[in-house]
Amino acid sequence: MTSDDIVHRLRAAGSVFAEDEAALLRRSTHDDDTLESLVRRRLGGEPLEHVVGRVELAGLELSVGPGVFVPRQRTRALLNRTLDTVRAAQAVGEASARGRRPRASSQSVVVVEAFCGVAPVATAIVRAFPDAEIHAIDRSPAALRHARTNLGAGRGVHRGDVLVGLPQYVRGRVDVIAAVPPYVPDGRLDLLPHEARDHEPHAALLGGADGLDLARALVEQAPCFLAADGLLLLELHRSQVAAAATHARANGLVVVGQGSTIDTDDVAENDDAGSAPRPVATGTFPDDDDQPDDEPDDEPDDEPDEADLQTVVLELHLG
Ligand SMILES: C[S@@+](CC[C@H](N)C(=O)[O-])C[C@H]1O[C@@H](n2cnc3c(N)ncnc32)[C@H](O)[C@@H]1O
Repeated sequence: MTSDDIVHRLRAAGSVFAEDEAALLRRSTHDDDTLESLVRRRLGGEPLEHVVGRVELAGLELSVGPGVFVPRQRTRALLNRTLDTVRAAQAVGEASARGRRPRASSQSVVVVEAFCGVAPVATAIVRAFPDAEIHAIDRSPAALRHARTNLGAGRGVHRGDVLVGLPQYVRGRVDVIAAVPPYVPDGRLDLLPHEARDHEPHAALLGGADGLDLARALVEQAPCFLAADGLLLLELHRSQVAAAATHARANGLVVVGQGSTIDTDDVAENDDAGSAPRPVATGTFPDDDDQPDDEPDDEPDDEPDEADLQTVVLELHLG
C-alpha cells in the first residue's frame, strides 16, 4: 500500500489531515498487513494516537493506547509550570546544601502527578530532573501500564483514588502536586469530539455535575501531602476557577497564581512524533447563567473543536 493510497482512503473518510496521518501510520510499522490493520482502525474512528500507540507532547514521545486518555497539547502549560517549580525548589535545595537556607530535604525534589493517566507531566520531570523523587497515581490500570513505560524503572507508580494510595512516607514532603483531573461536567460530553467520547474512558473525562468532583477531592487531600512551601497546580476550565478557589480556601489553601494555558492557536501544531493535528473539545463550559439548551444544533454534523477549550492552571499554596 503506498502513502498515496492511505491518504486517499483517509481523505475519503473525511480526514482533514490525511497526509500527516498517513505519514504517522506508515512510520509505525514496516509490515504491510499490520499497516492495513492500523489504517482500518483509523478509518473506524479510533484516535490516531491510540492506533499508533504514541503521542508527542513538549518534545516527549509518550506511550498511549486504547482505553486511556490521550494527553492534550494544552497541558504543556501545566507541564512547563511544574518544571519551573521543580527548578526553583532544586535551587533552594542547592542553596541549602551550601548552608544558605534550611530545607527539610535537600536530597531530592518530590513531585506527584495526580490523575496521572500516562503521566505526561511526571515524565517531563523525570527527563529534566532525573534525581527528583516522582510519584504518579491514577485508578486506571491501563493508564498506569503506559505511565510505567513512560517513566521507566524506579519511579513510584501507584494505583489509587485521588491521592489515597500514595505511600505514607510522602506525607508532608511534596514540593509540587500537578494534576489534570477529569473536569468535563456530566451531561456535557457533547463538548468533546467523537473520538474522545467514543474511545476515551468517560471516567477520565467527566467530573460530576459541575465537573469539579475530582478537583474538590484533590483539594481536600492535598494539604496532608504538601511540604510547607509546596504547590498544588491544577488544570481546569477557566469557568471553574472561582468555585475551585472557594473550595481550596475552605480547605486551608490559598490561590497564589492563575496562568492561562498555551495559546490554543498552536494546539494543532504538533511535532512529528506520534500526533497529527487533532480536535480535542468545543464551545465553552456552561457558566451559571448559561445552561445547556435543548434546541437542536444548527449544524449537527460539526465536530467540536477542543482547541477552543479555555483552560487555566490554578496555583495553590498551603495558607
Ligand atoms: C483528564 S485525564 C488526565 C491524564 C493525564 N494527567 C494527562 O494529562 O494526560 C484524568 C485521569 O484521571 C483518572 N481518574 C479518574 N478518576 C480518578 C480517581 N477517582 N482517582 C484517581 N484517578 C482517577 C483517569 O483514569 C484519567 O487517567
